[in-house]
Amino acid sequence: MDNALTGLAEVDTIALKRAAEANRFDGDLGSTVDIFTAAGEGSRRIMLVGAGNGSDNQGYQKAGGAVAAKLLSSGERAITIAVGPSLEDNAGSLMAFGALQRAWQLETYRTKAPEKSKRTVETITVVADEAEAAGWERFQAVYTGIALARELVTEPPNVIHPQGFVERCRPLEQLGVSIEVLDRDEMTELGMGALLGVAQGSIREPKLLVMRWDGTDGAQEKPVALVGKGVTFDTGGISLKPGPGMEDMKFDMGGAAAVAGTMRALAGRKAKAHVVGVCGLVENMPGSNAQRPSDIVTTMSGQTVEVLNTDAEGRLVLCDAMHWVQERYHPDVMVDLATLTGAMIIALGNEHGGCFSNDDGLAAELVAAGKESGDKLWRMPLGKAYDKLIDSPIADIKNVGPREAGSITAAQFLQRFVQDGVKWAHLDIAGTVWMKAASNLWAKGATGYGVRLLDRFIADNYEA
Ligand code: BES
Ligand code: MN
Ligand code: ZN
Repeated sequence: MDNALTGLAEVDTIALKRAAEANRFDGDLGSTVDIFTAAGEGSRRIMLVGAGNGSDNQGYQKAGGAVAAKLLSSGERAITIAVGPSLEDNAGSLMAFGALQRAWQLETYRTKAPEKSKRTVETITVVADEAEAAGWERFQAVYTGIALARELVTEPPNVIHPQGFVERCRPLEQLGVSIEVLDRDEMTELGMGALLGVAQGSIREPKLLVMRWDGTDGAQEKPVALVGKGVTFDTGGISLKPGPGMEDMKFDMGGAAAVAGTMRALAGRKAKAHVVGVCGLVENMPGSNAQRPSDIVTTMSGQTVEVLNTDAEGRLVLCDAMHWVQERYHPDVMVDLATLTGAMIIALGNEHGGCFSNDDGLAAELVAAGKESGDKLWRMPLGKAYDKLIDSPIADIKNVGPREAGSITAAQFLQRFVQDGVKWAHLDIAGTVWMKAASNLWAKGATGYGVRLLDRFIADNYEA
């Protein structure tokens, strides 16, 4: 603690030490103690925050988030973060990065918020040397990506329908991201019968949104492909979901939001990588034109699918998006992200996303990026025996297996659309895009999961 107190007046140090003792403050991650001391004509608030014991490499981010949580609506208008000289490089930036993440909130719909609950903090200042200051831009870019992902997830489905999603991503063009949007007619032409089958119950036009960032000036010919499930609302379709809790299904585009947020982060920090992000955007609704359980659709790959449950729609959207990106860009590496199965939440809860992959190296890269970034992943198995469970008696594949191993059979379905030689990973993030409780890095609601993860994954493995 002594290190953290350098630069303070002696009386402040004594008072802080006393306050720390009296509150049994021992530096536990996210714990805080504060005092008020005389400063010139007025007084100032000095807060100590615990960054934990280092076993959690998210310590500084979470400490910054804890400060933000405490002060955001406290009446204070400015926060200054000063870290002791012996702390890790970037500690101040990490704290500010965490504070920003914790402070994010969608304010547009609260027209009558009581004065006392309103945000008061306007600025966060980090005291840092020049080397650290130069690194800030990177954090800022990743934060902006997280904020975009959270915004897309949090906005209601009457706003973020496929077209609304596309419009929110348009500004990325100004950062150098090239955007292509395929509409229903073009997808019909391409034969994307599975994606279109999901979309046909809704009056909302489906879109395939393609965002490409090339920070290599053409040096890296083949992009890394990211594919996101963007079901802007999932009612289940004719296999209708129960009413209670259905509102959660506005976050069923969390995979697509993570892809969009990652593109924002990469372009924002001018990453020296070539990445293409594809979002399959549809609304899954019941209706007189909706697909029925037992319909058979033909995917763009030519494989036919017996749709036994219209609520297993994510795989139907992804299989055509995945096939399209492989045909168009011939990537060596393809990672898809999807809030694909409730079973994933049963298996891993809200702590880890599930990582399924046909390549041990790729899986290891992703799991490592998860550990480093805080968006944690846990490897899950694939195998022939699971794959057999989705053979259909009438078509090539059925879109659901038995109840058991539901996340794995969903992954097996996707694997049938991975072309030879492509290293592929599927991240089932059903449990991690939305939280029912606040943490040090988010208020309850959207987490922006996937942006920190993919940004790290690209930075560590695919940047020149
Ligand atoms: N979007 C859901 C999965 C989901 C459920 C995500 C709860 C987050 C929270 C997906 O489209 C779905 O409905 N999956 C079904 C699959 C089943 C019909 C095989 C599920 O998990 O029940
Ligand atoms: Mn569903
Ligand atoms: Zn879904």
